[in-house]
Amino acid sequence: MRKDTNLAVDGARLWDSLMEMAKIGATAKGGVNRLTLTDLDRQSRDLFVTWCKDAGCTITVDRMGSIFARRKGTDDSLPPVMVGSHLDTQPTGGKFDGALGVMAALELIRSLNDLDIKTRHPIEVAMWTNEEGSRFAPAMVASGVFVGAFPEDYGLSRTDVDGKRFGEELKRIGYAGPAPVGGREVAAFFELHIEQGPILEEAGTDVGVVTHANGQRWYEIDITGVESHAGPTPMARRKDALLCAARIVEAVNAIGWGHEPHACATCGMILAQPNSRNVIPGKVFLTVDFRHPEDDRLASMDAELRRLVPEIAARSGCTAELEQIFHFPVTTFDPACVGRVREGARQLGLSHREIHSGAGHDAVYMARVAPTAMVFVPCVGGISHNEAEDIKPEWATAGANVLLHAVVETAGVA
Ligand code: GLV
Ligand code: MN
Ligand code: MN
Repeated sequence: MRKDTNLAVDGARLWDSLMEMAKIGATAKGGVNRLTLTDLDRQSRDLFVTWCKDAGCTITVDRMGSIFARRKGTDDSLPPVMVGSHLDTQPTGGKFDGALGVMAALELIRSLNDLDIKTRHPIEVAMWTNEEGSRFAPAMVASGVFVGAFPEDYGLSRTDVDGKRFGEELKRIGYAGPAPVGGREVAAFFELHIEQGPILEEAGTDVGVVTHANGQRWYEIDITGVESHAGPTPMARRKDALLCAARIVEAVNAIGWGHEPHACATCGMILAQPNSRNVIPGKVFLTVDFRHPEDDRLASMDAELRRLVPEIAARSGCTAELEQIFHFPVTTFDPACVGRVREGARQLGLSHREIHSGAGHDAVYMARVAPTAMVFVPCVGGISHNEAEDIKPEWATAGANVLLHAVVETAGVA
């Protein structure tokens, strides 16, 4: 392995921090359940803030609860180079989705301190609130507000399934910060993340140089049928909202298959009412998640869904209200920042290839206001959003070193 540089992170310290962070919300199956704005989220934030302060950073929390830990630049009037990800997880999440990007960003600061390297631009480690969108939809809502994709009131008024409001929960955990959300210049944004798919591991490639992120559309469907007794109600008289939902799930899956090989189509959440085993369900709430690397294909998937849902509802004797709650188009990352990621991998003698992101990331929103790029590292079996999510320490180190190179190159050594 060729290595043109001695600029490197402390891989053991990075791994220790990842493992320490993974104890907060650790599950019996080796994963993490740290839903956004829960007490566990607060604990992970407290630990992150303590570590950032120990590394000499100053902390800012904005009104959406995102945390920015700043290391001064030698020209501190310059806009910051931002680097980060998220600490919230899915309910059956893993140790690395998000946490890798935040811990690697912190490790980058610690390493610059150790190496006594000063940068011209300040560097800010960003920890975005509610990337996952699991407890509060949509995903990436805080970075979305930061870049002006959503009004702040919209972000703060999201509710979870129990009707709890984002803004209230943020206050409850003590992270409703005073700083305005966004509205300031950011020189560049970098995010390291696990690939969450199988490509890098299968090819034995160290690093993914992310050029694009898929477009996404999320929908909510409210289906109404008629609740009635499971025994005396003849099959022909039923208006079964769950059967209607099942047919829609099948149709969503078929839309995904119809746009092979790159489409993804998922119904991830279903709530049937009254959810009693001898009542025909009268109401169902269902979610749909569509993704594609081409906007026109995503638009075709959208058109098919809009055509099929009323048809299926009518055939099932029900009504269905379909609402698109989230849409972002395909994102192209900044060629200069992507080039710095590629060059970092080259200098470190790491194998690398271009890749696009199937998942959403805060980097996708940040790309609207700042030159942005992402670094991917493999994950075992391509598995993520699963407690079994796993990576090797050397993969984390390789990704963090590429991140360090790209960030230092962008921030400039003073
Ligand atoms: C975020 O994890 C996503 O859904 O892509
Ligand atoms: Mn993530
Ligand atoms: Mn995720």
